[in-house]
Amino acid sequence: MYKILKKEALNPTVTRMVIEAPFVAKRAKAGQFIILRVREQGERLPLTIADSNPEKGTVTIIFQVVGETTMLLNALNEGDCLKDFAGPLGKPSVIDGNKKVCIIGGGVGCAIAYPTAKAFHEAGADVTTIVGFRNKDLVILEEEFKKVSDAYYLMSDDGSVGEKGLVTNKLEDLITGGEKFDEVVAIGPIVMMKFVSLTTKKYNIPTTVSMNPVMIDGTGMCGGCRLKVGDEIKFACVDGPDFDGHLVDFDQAMARNTAYKSFEAHKRDEACH
Ligand code: FES
Repeated sequence: MYKILKKEALNPTVTRMVIEAPFVAKRAKAGQFIILRVREQGERLPLTIADSNPEKGTVTIIFQVVGETTMLLNALNEGDCLKDFAGPLGKPSVIDGNKKVCIIGGGVGCAIAYPTAKAFHEAGADVTTIVGFRNKDLVILEEEFKKVSDAYYLMSDDGSVGEKGLVTNKLEDLITGGEKFDEVVAIGPIVMMKFVSLTTKKYNIPTTVSMNPVMIDGTGMCGGCRLKVGDEIKFACVDGPDFDGHLVDFDQAMARNTAYKSFEAHKRDEACH
């Protein structure tokens, strides 16, 4: 059993939990994910590893309460245990300490962008971070990002915190202002990753995106997480989750991710009653 050692609300809908999972903690690298189950008959929920501590044997996860399973997970408290916590799964992000990188996080995607920014920083890279949220109440991990960033820019849709505008506005301002990024890493809503990739393509900057499609088994068997990347079909759980943003078919990924929305809403309503 995997005990919840710490639980903390980062904003009204996003929670951070530290889980006792020594075998996962020992091998976890930035970019990898776990699949957990809250209970025996429960859904398998993939979540990116937000942090890990091999000495303490702990793994940190950050999740947004959006459906039945995340509601059930969020109802657990410190001292409670998860049924399963399998991982680390997926390929680790490729980290190069000699680069000048721009890490872009959108909304709860910042939970995934943070370990990547931290890994680049610890490897010696020059890290610029741009994060975007709808408003000031949704901002997460501000202090954590500042600690691992040489430059940090906070954007909000309504201007209630940081600068008003999109992450792509700031990215383009920096590029046209003379910043020379060797790589851009974008993690957040699919539409954000699409427009970051379209922006960087204009300037020929290599771009990595972290894809988070529907997953079931997490082992490359079910095909649930398939994506079109260039001319190939890839599985996010075993070939990713990181892919070349200039090759991903974002429109197809968006269509597949919305296919289960009404079913998820139905399950969420059931769980509320
Ligand atoms: Fe089944 Fe990736 S989750 S193939």
